[in-house]
Amino acid sequence: MSDHEKNTGPNSDSRAALEQAAMQDEQMQDVHAQLMREKEEPHEGFSPVPIFLMFAFAALCFWGGVYLVEYSGGYRWDAYSPHFDPGADAPKPVEITLFERGARVYRNQCAQCHQADGRGVTGVYPPLVGTDWVTGHPRLVSRVLINGLSGPIEVAGSTYNGNMPAFGPSGLGLNNRDIAAVITYIRQEWGNDASEVTQDMIAAYVADYGSRTRPWTAPEVREGLGPEPAAPAQEPDADAETDAASDEVAMRAP
Ligand code: HEC
Repeated sequence: MSDHEKNTGPNSDSRAALEQAAMQDEQMQDVHAQLMREKEEPHEGFSPVPIFLMFAFAALCFWGGVYLVEYSGGYRWDAYSPHFDPGADAPKPVEITLFERGARVYRNQCAQCHQADGRGVTGVYPPLVGTDWVTGHPRLVSRVLINGLSGPIEVAGSTYNGNMPAFGPSGLGLNNRDIAAVITYIRQEWGNDASEVTQDMIAAYVADYGSRTRPWTAPEVREGLGPEPAAPAQEPDADAETDAASDEVAMRAP
């Protein structure tokens, strides 16, 4: 009996515990119901920006950039002035004369040998000042420039025996315009006073001599040429006149 009683003790205890538990269940359900009415629990981590928003933002940035470039008025302080003229200080294309162009070509291509003052180096590089090689028939100096010159020559009383490089298509390949320019330059600089040589004239000479690969020699280079513009069928009068002109140049030269 005592055993039984002993047993009921715990039994009645557990019944009480069960009852309590049932009560707790009710409470629990209340709590759950409460929780379910409430919002989601906050949790750790981050939620990424939706991808379409990223695209929308990128597109907005791009549009903004384009808009700035198009409508910023070059960020000029006077862009809102009523008298604003956007083309006002756009640089005008610079027109340079054949002579000016020639001066540049000369500095780059010729001055190292013939010197900036055109006087050359006696015995090595012949002068270009006051010599009929330069101021004579335009075809003569053009032949020299297009194909080069080698072998003994006499310029201004000294003998030279060097190699003048070819600047034509079979040589260093200067274009016709630059050749015309540099010839015009040396014919009119340092007191030289001969006619201009145009790009068209050089184009014609290049058509004649461009394919020649040997440099000229002194006797060859003057073949068929009068002193100053002497077309084969020229009046003797004109010849005499131009003779005088080139003499004048020679006399004026130092
Ligand atoms: C590498 C040196 C060198 C360069 C560069 C050079 N020349 Fe010459 N030039 C000579 C030599 C050397 C002679 C003489 C050739 C000879 O002895 O047969 C000569 C001869 C001439 C002659 C005929 C002789 C005279 O004195 O009038 C002319 C014209 C001439 N050069 C113009 C030019 C021009 C224009 C350029 C530039 C486009 C140029 N040369 C570049 C070395 C050079």
